[in-house]
Amino acid sequence: MTASNQEISKTIQRGPDKAKILWDQWSEKKQYNRSNLELYYRIRERNLLWLTSLTFSLLHDKENIRILKTDLWNEAKKDERYFLDAPGSKFGLDISGEICRLSKLKYGESISLAQGSIESIPFHSDNFHLIWDISTIDHCDHPEMALAEYNRVLKSGGILLLVVENLLCFSFPATKIQSYLGFHVPFKGYLSSRVIQTCKLAGFQIVDHFKTNIHLPRFVVYSLEKKGLLEGINQGRNFLWDLCKKYSVILCRKA
Ligand SMILES: C[S@@+](CC[C@H](N)C(=O)[O-])C[C@H]1O[C@@H](n2cnc3c(N)ncnc32)[C@H](O)[C@@H]1O
Repeated sequence: MTASNQEISKTIQRGPDKAKILWDQWSEKKQYNRSNLELYYRIRERNLLWLTSLTFSLLHDKENIRILKTDLWNEAKKDERYFLDAPGSKFGLDISGEICRLSKLKYGESISLAQGSIESIPFHSDNFHLIWDISTIDHCDHPEMALAEYNRVLKSGGILLLVVENLLCFSFPATKIQSYLGFHVPFKGYLSSRVIQTCKLAGFQIVDHFKTNIHLPRFVVYSLEKKGLLEGINQGRNFLWDLCKKYSVILCRKA
């Protein structure tokens, strides 16, 4: 069941106004041309399919799964499909009314949408088997509030997939400067050790954590892909390669 437009407009009032306006503006400003970066997007989606499949494998009960995906930017702006194609009931949360409107327009009944912040989630407690946060927490001011909310809305034994910027990636300073200058979307970024600590304080058990998603010039990534090496590197654990990976992944279980 999908939330009606009326329900969406009711929840519009909930998000902190400043962040809501900021993300509406960025949504209108930022345009992507998927056809220019077809291979790049295919590699990204394959990586996310692998990460989300790990969350399914960690669930004890695989019937009638309810998934909450935080932020629908890539679904709305880049037509990313892995969430849409996942089995189970799908729920989406985004602070931006514009992103909710676009998602509703594109995906209608297939996602139940709510506008709101991960710091104050407009869903009742013990509700979801899986939460997929693919770099939403990097954009919020109070990660401890978001993690407490994830713990509240997950069912007992539920799995949280957190994908956060890897601050130790050699390209991180460049991305941060671009963001500061307004050439890149705004984000904060938190050390994965801090996020892990905060997860534990919020009541999660850490199941696994590692780095993924090589972030090197495109010709290097495409060449590794052509040689059939990219997937192994992205899924592998090697200190030197880890310094070239964009994301830290943290998999947690609600006790
Ligand atoms: C740049 S996009 C994130 C991109 C994406 N998740 C990725 O893979 O990099 C930021 C998205 O997060 C949403 N957002 C930002 N702060 C949020 C918050 N506190 N709660 C929920 N959504 C938020 C924005 O509206 C926007 O759709």
